[in-house]
Amino acid sequence: MAQPTKMNPKSQGSGGREVWGTRLGFVLAAVGSAVGLGNMWRFSYVASEGGGAAFLILYVALIALIGIPLMLAEFSVGRRTHLSPIGAIRQVAGSRWVPLGVLYVLTGFLVLSYYAVIAGWTLRYSLDGILGGFAGDPGVYFESVATGWDAIAYHLVFMTITIGIVMNGVQRGIERAALILMPILFLILLGLAVWAATLPGAREGYAFYLQPSLAELMDPAVLTGAAGQAFFSLSLGMGAMLTFASYLSRDSDLNQEAVTVSLSDFLVAFIAGLVVFPVIAALGLQDQVGESAVGALFISLPGAFEAMGGIGRIVGILFFVALAVGALTSALSLLEVVTSSIIDELRISRRKAALGLGVLIAAVGIIPALSLDALGLMDAIAGELFLVIGAFGMAIVVGWVMPNVAGEMKRGASPAFERYVPGVVFLVRYVLPVVIGIVLWFSILETIENVQAFFVG
Ligand code: TRP
Repeated sequence: MAQPTKMNPKSQGSGGREVWGTRLGFVLAAVGSAVGLGNMWRFSYVASEGGGAAFLILYVALIALIGIPLMLAEFSVGRRTHLSPIGAIRQVAGSRWVPLGVLYVLTGFLVLSYYAVIAGWTLRYSLDGILGGFAGDPGVYFESVATGWDAIAYHLVFMTITIGIVMNGVQRGIERAALILMPILFLILLGLAVWAATLPGAREGYAFYLQPSLAELMDPAVLTGAAGQAFFSLSLGMGAMLTFASYLSRDSDLNQEAVTVSLSDFLVAFIAGLVVFPVIAALGLQDQVGESAVGALFISLPGAFEAMGGIGRIVGILFFVALAVGALTSALSLLEVVTSSIIDELRISRRKAALGLGVLIAAVGIIPALSLDALGLMDAIAGELFLVIGAFGMAIVVGWVMPNVAGEMKRGASPAFERYVPGVVFLVRYVLPVVIGIVLWFSILETIENVQAFFVG
């Protein structure tokens, strides 16, 4: 059996499997997985289109009712089995469910392949900001960054960093990166939000972001969009949280961690909106935000930063560095899902698995680096539909197939949280399958439309 040989013995669990060095390390790694491009780039326009403050209330309710229970479900499977997704699903639900684990690995593979392309843009913007500012026409600039050789090059650089960290393992790779990078990200973002409050457009920006509009909330597409956003942002539905929890010791408090991780993720998304909208409103660019899903912020923000002169440039660099940092810690979790499954299933070494899979993922990513349409399609299929299917499967497995879920959730919980476990189990059994089932129905319809649009042109 392949074993990490240079590992400090304290970093291994009973079966020779690695464990997190500290509780904070695990929480920050999980927050790092959750906080990413989804928070800082996707959330703001979903919220402003979905009804502002009314949307935020819906979103928080969804996190409490669906997000936290589902995260707890994933945590429970991971911590009970100490296995990566395929093996973990096999152990708690039997071989019949193995395809669900395989779907998780496939989803991780596909999401990372285009996620790393977008992350490459953030690297490029950071670097260009440092080297000379975001000059020229923002739309033309974006196109030159987003596709073609440049996009491929930055995508490959980003993948190289990701692979390098995952090759180093859980404690010395992922945990250490999270401990260093997450505080940096929080500080940058807080600083930016304070600065944004001083802008002349701040009030209009907040109004555009938070203006409550109930009419939009009545649209079922907003509900399903909010649910989809919650899964993506919380890294649920593809075994990422399951995998991270598999490196926990038996007595950690899953309930508390699930709440901490979910709330931190929401807070970062909310604060990112407090940065983005004042900047955009300061230059009257509101209308551009909703237009193109993929390019919106990448087109409007650099133009806005550039127009603000010297300060704008510094702020712009910080903003894109924060984005790149968030993307990196998320990418680590995506690669870890794929890598750990291959380590467990094929019994090859971590270094070989991370490197081999990373190279494959990087190669597939060349397609979305050449075509924004392909990128959008991959996001719609893997980043939405597959996640919703994966979340549905997770709710069924944990709610109906896995034995003694309540016992697992109670283990290590403080008495205050223990009281909520029966309620959480009820949500996982009855509420999640219904709500996720509805979302799934809409996602299928939407995906059919997207696929048709892609091939018809
Ligand atoms: N949550 C990350 C974001 O908001 C993306 C991500 C990382 C993810 N790991 C995941 C999404 C696992 C779904 C599943 O950008």
